[in-house]
Amino acid sequence: MDHTQRMGLICFMPIFFLLFSTSSAAIAAKPGVNYGQLGNNLPHPSKSVELIKSLKAGRVKIYDANPKILQALANTNIQISIMVPNEIITAMAPNQSLADEWVKTNVVPFYPKTMIRYVLVGNEILSQPDNVTWFNLVPAMRRIRKALVSHKFKKIKVGTPLAIDCLEASFPPSSGKFRSSVSESVLKPLLQFIHRTKSFFFIDVYTYFAWISDPVNIKLDYALLQPNASTYTDPVTGLLYTNMLEQMLDALYFAMKDAGYPDTRLFIAETGWPNGGDLDQIGANIYNAATYNRNAIKLFADKPARGTPFKPFVVLPSFIFALYNENQKTGLGTERHFGLLYPNGTNIYEIDLSGKTPESEFKKALPVPTNNEPYKGKLWCMAARGVNKTALAGALSFACGQGNGTCNPIQRGGKCFKPDSLYWHASYAFSSYWAQFRKSGGSCYFNGLATQTANNPSFGSCKFPSKDFGAVCKTSDSDSDCRPRTRSVVRAFDSVGLMSDSVRGPRFCLGLGPRIKIAD
Ligand SMILES: *[C@@H]1O[C@H](CO)[C@@H](O)[C@H](O)[C@H]1NC(C)=O
Ligand SMILES: *[C@@H]1O[C@H](CO)[C@@H](O)[C@H](O)[C@H]1NC(C)=O
Ligand SMILES: *[C@@H]1O[C@H](CO)[C@@H](O)[C@H](O)[C@H]1NC(C)=O
Ligand SMILES: *[C@@H]1O[C@H](CO)[C@@H](O)[C@H](O)[C@H]1NC(C)=O
Ligand SMILES: *[C@@H]1O[C@H](CO)[C@@H](O)[C@H](O)[C@H]1NC(C)=O
Ligand SMILES: *[C@@H]1O[C@H](CO)[C@@H](O)[C@H](O)[C@H]1NC(C)=O
Repeated sequence: MDHTQRMGLICFMPIFFLLFSTSSAAIAAKPGVNYGQLGNNLPHPSKSVELIKSLKAGRVKIYDANPKILQALANTNIQISIMVPNEIITAMAPNQSLADEWVKTNVVPFYPKTMIRYVLVGNEILSQPDNVTWFNLVPAMRRIRKALVSHKFKKIKVGTPLAIDCLEASFPPSSGKFRSSVSESVLKPLLQFIHRTKSFFFIDVYTYFAWISDPVNIKLDYALLQPNASTYTDPVTGLLYTNMLEQMLDALYFAMKDAGYPDTRLFIAETGWPNGGDLDQIGANIYNAATYNRNAIKLFADKPARGTPFKPFVVLPSFIFALYNENQKTGLGTERHFGLLYPNGTNIYEIDLSGKTPESEFKKALPVPTNNEPYKGKLWCMAARGVNKTALAGALSFACGQGNGTCNPIQRGGKCFKPDSLYWHASYAFSSYWAQFRKSGGSCYFNGLATQTANNPSFGSCKFPSKDFGAVCKTSDSDSDCRPRTRSVVRAFDSVGLMSDSVRGPRFCLGLGPRIKIAD
C-alpha cells in the first residue's frame, strides 16, 4: 500500500528535480558540528579545531564570534557560521552603524581566510519570552545583510535559527502551520528576506524532545531514525514517513507552503540526542545518541540527496549538536550531555561526520541502554559534595522559600534538624522542594549544587521526601510525574534567577512538537 505511494512520488521525480536542482546545486550536505562553549573545562580553540577536523566535520557553528576560534579556523577547509547575540538585536534593528560596526569587528578581520559563510542573527528568538526582540529580528537581519553587502561579502548568507516551537500545528505534517501570533508579523517578512537573499530557513529540530513528550505512542526506533522502524502515512497527502525527523521537517515545509513560500531551503542548525542525563530521564544514553547521530548523518550525506517525502532530493545541510558535553549549561541533566566528545577531547562514541564510515567499521560495541523505559522507583535530591558554601546556603533558602512548609522538619526541634549542617539541611530542602515541584517543572539541579540519588538518605525518624516513579506513564494523565515539564513552568522558575535557562543549545518542547500515533 505504502509502496505504491512511494512509486507515485518517484514518477513525479523529474518535476521536483527541475524545481529544486537550481537552488540545491550550490550547497553540499557536509554535515557539521555545533561548537558550544558553555563549559569551564573545554580544550583551547586550536585544539578544538584539530578535534573538529578529526571528526571530519565540513562545517562548524559557534554561538558568538569568538576571535580565537575564528583565528584557529583560518586556512582550513571548514565553513563556519557565526552568531549575533540576542541581546543586541533590538538596538541593531533601527541602527545601521551598529550593524556596520559588528561586521567590521567580527567578520572583516577574519574573512576570507576564515571561511565565514553564515551570520546567524540571534538564537531561537521566537522561543524567548521577550517579545519585543521578536519584532526586531528581521529588521536586524536586514541591517547585517546591508553591512555585509557594503563589503561585497557575497558568499555570506544571513539567517536566524528557530526552534520547532515556531509551529503551532505539526501533526499530521501536511497541517503544518506557524504560530498565529508571529506568522504575519515575523515569519512572512523572514521568509521574504530568505527568498530575496537566497538564504536558508535555519531550524533546530530534535526528535528526542518529541519522543520524550509521548514515548508511549511514538516508537523509539522511529525517533532514532532506525531503517526498520514503524511508518506513518499522512492521511491528507498520502506521503509515507519512515522516521520522525522527516516528519518534523515536512511539517515545517508545509508551514512555509501555507505562508506562501513553498520553495524555501532548510538548513538544520541543530539536531542530536543526549548521551546521558538525570536518573529519571528516559532514553538519554550513549547507545541512542550514537544511533541517532549516525543515522542522521547517513540521511544528510546520502547521494543523491534524499530530502524528505514532501521535498525529495533536496540537500539538507546540517550541524549536529554538539561538539562537547558542556558542564555549565543549566536545566535537566540531558542539557549537559549532548556532546560527541568529553571535555578532555576523547570520543564518547565513534562517529564520522562525513558519513563515509560504514556502520560495520565502528569497532567498539555500544553500551546496552538501561533507561529506555520510564524510571521506576524512588529518587531523592541531595546537595552535591564539595560545592561553594555561600551558593549552597543561597539555594537552601531559595528551596525553603518556595513551598508550603517545605522545610519545617529542619527547623530547630524538627525531626531532621540534626545533624545541624549545611549539607544535610540543603539536602533535605532540595528533596522536599523537588518532591513538591518536579511535576510542575522544578528540577534537581540548583546550578550544579544538587544531584539525584536512588539511595534513601533518611535516618531515624527523619524521613526525606522522595519522588516515586513507580507509576506507569499514561498519555492522558497530564499531571503524572512521568510527564516531562512544560516550558511555561520553567519560565516561572527562571524569573527567580537561580535556574535561568541558557540561551545556547536545545530547548524544551512546548508540547507543540509533533504528536503521532503509530499503528503497526
Ligand atoms: C547607533 O550605534 C552607534 C554605534 O554603536 C552608536 O554610537 C549610536 O549612538 C547609536 N545610535 C542611536 C540612535 O542609538
Ligand atoms: C508581548 O508580551 C506582552 C506581555 O506579556 C503582552 O501583553 C503583549 O500582548 C505581547 N505582544 C504581542 C504582539 O504578542
Ligand atoms: C531495528 O534494527 C535495530 C538494529 O538492527 C534493532 O536493534 C531493533 O530491535 C530493530 N527494531 C525492530 C522494530 O525491528
Ligand atoms: C576522558 O574523560 C572520560 C569521561 O570523564 C573518561 O572516561 C576518559 O577516561 C578520559 N580520557 C582520557 C584520555 O583522559
Ligand atoms: C561562591 O558563591 C557566591 C554566591 O553565589 C559567589 O559570590 C562567590 O564568588 C563564590 N565563591 C567562589 C570561590 O566561587
Ligand atoms: C499548606 O499545607 C497545609 C497542610 O498540608 C494545607 O492545609 C494548606 O491548604 C496548604 N496551603 C497552601 C497555600 O497550599
